[in-house]
Parts: sequence; C-alpha cells; structure tokens
Amino acid sequence: MGGYSTIVVSTPAEGVGLVRLDRPKALNALNHQVMTEVIDAVRAFDADPVIGAVVITGSERAFAAGADISEMAGLSHREVTEQDLFAGWDGLRGLRTPVVAAVAGHALGGGCELAMMCDLLIAADTARFGQPEIKLGVIPGMGGSQRLTRTVGKAKAMDLCLTGRTMDAEEAERAGLVSRIVPAAELVDTAVEVAATIAGMSRTAAAAAKEAVDVVFESTLAEGIRFERRTFHALFATPDQKEGMAAFLEKRAPDYRR
Ligand code: HXC
Repeated sequence: MGGYSTIVVSTPAEGVGLVRLDRPKALNALNHQVMTEVIDAVRAFDADPVIGAVVITGSERAFAAGADISEMAGLSHREVTEQDLFAGWDGLRGLRTPVVAAVAGHALGGGCELAMMCDLLIAADTARFGQPEIKLGVIPGMGGSQRLTRTVGKAKAMDLCLTGRTMDAEEAERAGLVSRIVPAAELVDTAVEVAATIAGMSRTAAAAAKEAVDVVFESTLAEGIRFERRTFHALFATPDQKEGMAAFLEKRAPDYRR
C-alpha cells in the first residue's frame, strides 16, 4: 500500500479500501501517474479477499478538475491515437468489488467521468459536476458522453456536453447521477460507512448484484431479465444464500465471513 505519489491509500474500516486522490495544487487533475496509481491501488484491493468495497475520494475542494490539461495540450493526433489516450482507465471495468465515489467540490471532465465509472456516487453538498471539454475544443474522452447520457438522459447530457455548464449536487441528485447528498464534513465517513455495509454482505451476492445492475447498460430488457434470473438461481449454489436465509429464519444476524 505504499510507493504512491499522487494518491493516499488506507483501510479505514473492516473490509473497506480507501483511495484518496492527492494532487491538491492541481485540483487532483488526472495525469498519467494518477491513472496508473488509481488503477493499481483499486485492482490490488479488488484482488484482496479481505476487502469487500472500495471508496475513491478527492479533497474538499475537488474530487478531480478533469484530465490534466497541461499534460495533453501539446499532444498531436498521432500521439493520442498511438497512446490510445485514456484507454488505461478501462482498468476500472470488470472489477468484482463495488466502488463508491465520494465527491466534494469540482468533479469536471475526467473527474466527472471517473466518478461515473464507480458503482455508486455519494456527493457532498459542495459537489459540482460537468463535462466542460467543449470549452477546450474537445469532447469527453473517458466515457462521459456515454455514461452521462445513460444515467441522466439525453436532455441534461446534451445541455452539459454542449454548453459546458456545471450542475450542483441537488441537480445531480434529481437527475439520478448521485445516490445521496451529505454535508461536506461527513462525506468520507458516510462513504466509508456505506462501503462497510456493502463489505458486510455476502461478497458473492454483492458481486452478482453489481454485475446484474451493470448488465442494464449493455443489453436489452429481455436479456437483462434472463441474466438476472439465472444469476439469482446460481446464488442458491452458494453457502451465503443458505446462511443468509437461515439467519433470517433463526432471527439472528448472518455471518458471511465464516
Ligand atoms: C491541469 C488544472 C486543471 C486541469 C485545474 N488545474 N484544473 N491543471 N488540468 N484539468 C490547476 C490550475 O491550472 C491551477 O494551477 C490550479 O489547478 C488551481 O486551479 P484554479 O483555476 O486557479 O482554481 P479556481 O479558480 O478555483 O477554478 C477551479 C476550476 C478551474 C473551475 C476547476 O481550475 C477549471 O476550470 N479547471 C479546468 C476544468 C476543465 O476544463 N476540466 C476538463 C479537463 S478536460 P496553478 O499552477 O495555476 O495554480 C478533460 C478531458 C477528458 O477532463 C477527456 C477528453 C479529452
């Protein structure tokens, strides 16, 4: 858990891994180093059987103010295509472990996109979301045009991507981008509590629930319902289903960590 220069990694509660972006002077702008370190840390947590949920957060002022403009401004078309710029962020896809984004302050451009790559988004009342790339003569490049539209619908996605305006936490919650809003001072504690709750569930069931919800983004309704039903059936082959249902009937708390 050491050796990082742009993030700080910790385990603040049982079963919970925390990754805090730590480039305060650049408002956590996402350069190549940040990307490499975030992916490395989150994948290490994903591979750790002790960890059942991960929280990604930034500072009070900024979750992340976007991709690092100074790093990419001078790149040629050939360089961005040869590097497949930002494709590295796909390393956050396909994780079994649920990831909670805890967002305070600016979540702009790549910052908003990173938050949307997480499974669940908790916002401080100070959070501001936007895809202002248009003001820089480009468009979102880390999935923003796709995930934002699937999450909040065409009307708001077009508004944000075409005007570059930001939305506050209330608007983001109304639009369905954010699951809860909390006072800024309570943000990380709340996100860690939520993550600890998830980590206390059956890990198999949590991974299955995450996968089932994600299938919505990739399939038709009929395919999604079939996937959900088959996954539901498969869970009856797990000890966690036996434990969870027995615990309910015996009026006790389930223990999935036996
Ligand atoms: C590099 C950044 C940065 C960024 C802020 N900084 N955002 N550096 N890349 N995305 C740096 C500033 O240069 C400044 O450094 C320091 O952080 C503090 O920022 P200020 O602008 O002085 O702060 P403030 O006045 O409070 O304004 C905050 C802000 C503004 C509204 C967030 O910084 C801003 O508009 N940032 C850019 C937001 C943006 O366009 N994001 C999208 C990026 S494109 P110094 O050294 O001067 O103190 C993107 C593309 C994804 O994400 C893929 C498609 C290509």
